[in-house]
Amino acid sequence: MKLHADTLTRAYGAVQALDGLSLQVDARVLVLIGPSGGGKSTFLRLCGGLDLATSGSLEINGTALGEDPAELLAWRRRNGFLFQQFNLFPHLTARRNITLPLEKVHGRSPEEAEEVARRCLERFGLQAHGDKLPAQMSGGQQQRAGLARAIAPGPEILLLDEPTSALDPEMTAEVLELIQELAAAGQHIILSTHEMGFARAVADQVAVIAEGKILESGLPAAVFGQPRAAFTQRFLAKVMRFT
Ligand SMILES: Nc1ncnc2c1ncn2[C@@H]1O[C@H](COP(=O)(O)OP(=O)(O)OP(=O)(O)O)[C@@H](O)[C@H]1O
Ligand SMILES: [Mg+2]
Repeated sequence: MKLHADTLTRAYGAVQALDGLSLQVDARVLVLIGPSGGGKSTFLRLCGGLDLATSGSLEINGTALGEDPAELLAWRRRNGFLFQQFNLFPHLTARRNITLPLEKVHGRSPEEAEEVARRCLERFGLQAHGDKLPAQMSGGQQQRAGLARAIAPGPEILLLDEPTSALDPEMTAEVLELIQELAAAGQHIILSTHEMGFARAVADQVAVIAEGKILESGLPAAVFGQPRAAFTQRFLAKVMRFT
C-alpha cells in the first residue's frame, strides 16, 4: 500500500489526538507502536475512513480520505477492521457474524456468503465453532472469528487496532500467528500493537507515534536496532526490558 499523511490533526475538544502527523508509507505491513494515548487508534480510524481529520490530508492507494460521505463509505467497504474487543455481534453465531455483512454490505447471495463463511471458519480453525454465539467462545476464538469476518469480503487493507491486548498469552500467540499467516499470504495490513517482538517480526515498516506525531519510521531493524529519536530509545528500553 501507498500512504501519504500530511500534517494531519484531529482535535477532541482541547485534546490534540493527532498534532501534525506526517508519514509516507510504501509497504505491505505497516505497524504502529508508541505509548498509550499517543494517537495510534485515532490514526487507524482515519485510515479506515471511520473518522475525519480536523485538518491536513490523508491519501491511501490513490484515494483521498476527505469529506465526501459516499467516497468514505465506499472506502470503508473496501477494507476490514478488527479492534481490541467487542468485534462480533453478540446475538449472532460466529457463522452469521460472517455471512450477515457479506449479504447486507457486500451484496453477496446467501449461498455465496455461506460458502465464504465455511472457508473462512475452516481457514482459521473454527469449523467446530460456527454455530456458537460469541459468549460461548474463548477470547482467542472470538478474535479469530473477528479476523475471519474482517477477511471474508477480501479487504484491500486490514486494519487491526491492538487485536490481542485483551487476550492471555496463549490466545495472543494464536491470533498473532494468524495475522502473520495473512501477512505472508500478501494481505496488506495496518496494525497497532504493544507486542514489540511481533511488531518487529511482521512489519515491513514501523512508525513510532507519540503525542500525535510520528517520531520516526522505517524498517523494523532500523527502528528497533538503532532508534534515532531519544524518545524512541527510552520507550523501547522501557517496553523491551522484560522481553
Ligand atoms: N473520542 C475521544 N474523545 C476525546 N478524546 C479522545 C477520543 N479519542 C481519543 N482521545 C484522546 O486522544 C489521544 C490519543 O488517543 P488514541 O486512542 O488515539 O491513543 P492510542 O495511541 O491508541 O493509545 P492506546 O495505546 O492506549 O490505545 C488521547 O489523549 C485520548 O485521550
Ligand atoms: Mg489505541
